[in-house]
Amino acid sequence: MNILIVGGAGYIGSHVAREFLDRGHSVTVFDNLSSGKRENLFPEAKFIHGDILDYTGLSRAATDRRSAGGFDALVHLAAFKAVGESMVNPEKYSVNNINGTINILNAAVEGGIKNFIFSSSAAVFGRPEYLPVDEAHPTNPESYYGFTKLEIERFLGWYDKLKGIRFAALRYFNAAGYDVKGRLKGLESNPANLIPVIMETACGIRKEVQIFGNDYDTPDGTGVRDYVHVSDLAIAHAMAMDYTSKNDKSITVNLGSETGISVLEIVEAARRITGKPIPATIVGRRAGDPAKLTASSKKAHDLLNWTAQYSDLDMLIKTSWEVYRNI
Ligand code: UD1
Repeated sequence: MNILIVGGAGYIGSHVAREFLDRGHSVTVFDNLSSGKRENLFPEAKFIHGDILDYTGLSRAATDRRSAGGFDALVHLAAFKAVGESMVNPEKYSVNNINGTINILNAAVEGGIKNFIFSSSAAVFGRPEYLPVDEAHPTNPESYYGFTKLEIERFLGWYDKLKGIRFAALRYFNAAGYDVKGRLKGLESNPANLIPVIMETACGIRKEVQIFGNDYDTPDGTGVRDYVHVSDLAIAHAMAMDYTSKNDKSITVNLGSETGISVLEIVEAARRITGKPIPATIVGRRAGDPAKLTASSKKAHDLLNWTAQYSDLDMLIKTSWEVYRNI
């Protein structure tokens, strides 16, 4: 099938592009390279250097293959994702995440693209009321970032009803790791997420890891999250595309490993796997962080036959270290 991947040069987008190529699809990547990387592009995929805020360029890209039957699906992963930044600079998130997505949706309609795979987030839920969090859990985002993801899910619902676009909203829990086959090497710039911060400390780019609180109600006092390997996420995108196109139905699913891992467990595993000391200091809690967040991915399993296969702690750290050790 012909797939347009918007944000396909980014951390998750490039893994998704690789997975679609591996499955024999024809892939076009559309990216402004603001956080995406040229080194994340594959020669087998067509690349369009463009911005989702430039509607003319975007609609040209989305209608590009019309004469050849058009794109069968569009995968949208072009968004800012720093939770803290979204609270101090919501305007940036309104413009890029919301306005940008409206452009993408309208371009998809113009291009006659019927399947839309959207990179959503567990941030739509906010503070968990029960665990594991399933899709029926109330949505009450605590960050502006999470709010933008939830609003986009609502737009998708309307475009489904009014324009017949079938979507898959994939609510990632904590995405981590690198391609299990070692084909992707593009590092994120200025990462704020835990595993890249730990990797940068192992490499000496940072002096230490700050652990945000050890007085949570968790077994070792540090925050517990559901880390899901980016290769597992990539597979889920391909399965979701198969689902929406075969069943002519939209879905919203959680993607998580269903396993909780604490900050300390990750730091200790990273010390063991990298052989580096990785200094860590306990600092105060970070505002808005829940003690524990874990997913139920039963719905993704039931509907897509998807289960995380690569999301165990060692695989998350080993595949990350394979990339960071060489910088
Ligand atoms: C958040 C979002 C997630 C989003 C992701 C993108 C929520 C509930 N989750 O995940 O949906 O996709 O950001 O950026 O909003 N930690 C430290 N030291 C650090 C960094 C993190 O101790 O330097 C701790 C955190 O307190 C947390 C865990 O590590 O317990 C994971 O943090 P992080 O990687 O930032 O992800 P989340 O905030 O869980």
